[in-house]
Amino acid sequence: MKIGILGSGDVGRKLGDGFIELGHSVMIGTRDQSQQQVVDWVKRHGKQAAVGTFGDAASFGDIVIIATRWDGAINAINIAGHNNFSSKVVIDVTNPLDFSAGMPPKLSVGYTDSAGETIQRLIPDALVVKAFNTVGNPHFVHPDFPCGPPSMFICGNDPNAKKTITEILKSLGWEIIDIGCIEGSRLLEPLAMLWITCYFRENNGNIAFKLLRK
Ligand SMILES: NC(=O)c1ccc[n+]([C@@H]2O[C@H](COP(=O)([O-])OP(=O)(O)OC[C@H]3O[C@@H](n4cnc5c(N)ncnc54)[C@H](OP(=O)(O)O)[C@@H]3O)[C@@H](O)[C@H]2O)c1
Repeated sequence: MKIGILGSGDVGRKLGDGFIELGHSVMIGTRDQSQQQVVDWVKRHGKQAAVGTFGDAASFGDIVIIATRWDGAINAINIAGHNNFSSKVVIDVTNPLDFSAGMPPKLSVGYTDSAGETIQRLIPDALVVKAFNTVGNPHFVHPDFPCGPPSMFICGNDPNAKKTITEILKSLGWEIIDIGCIEGSRLLEPLAMLWITCYFRENNGNIAFKLLRK
């Protein structure tokens, strides 16, 4: 498959690594294609990797990933062109973090709305699935924890889109827990805040959530 990723930060490049490892072709979309981190990323991956504008990446992808800061997400989607998302599976990795009062950040949307729902409303023809937002990017690909695969919570309105993402997540080493429609982002985004809080209190990013059952 072809994967378009909006945003060239740690999250965009790490997801690019993972999708390329699974055999997909990836184009990262950015506002500045000359950024050293993107130039190096393309060089490292060779023919399976490319860089372009937000519009290039969104039109390239069979699956499109929103991997920008939250305060840039709507801008990135608008620049990319809403028609480039129509009928496509869109993975929303964002967390609506507000850094204006310093660290740790606070949520800027919550309780009655979420970033996931905001993105779904902005591109109503897209099949938005919230995923990857509840763990730090170093663990996105083959998370390695002593108690086995951690849980990746996902949500979205389209069952087939979630099936597609579930298969990809399994290949990346995750146990997947589908919590329902995109409104579930109201839970998954605060769950990311819990991850961030633990990270700051323990000064340790080697943490992930796992749902235990018996
Ligand atoms: N860091 C993590 O481990 C982690 C884990 C889970 C979820 N998340 C979420 O994933 C998203 C990306 O995280 P990150 O750490 O990669 O973030 P980041 O490095 O701070 O930003 C990612 C990208 O956002 C784009 N961006 C920033 N301002 C923008 C604007 N005004 N308009 C359009 N694009 C803009 C930039 O893309 P270009 O410079 O390429 O244009 C930038 O590279 C965030 O929403 C974050 O909350 C992060």
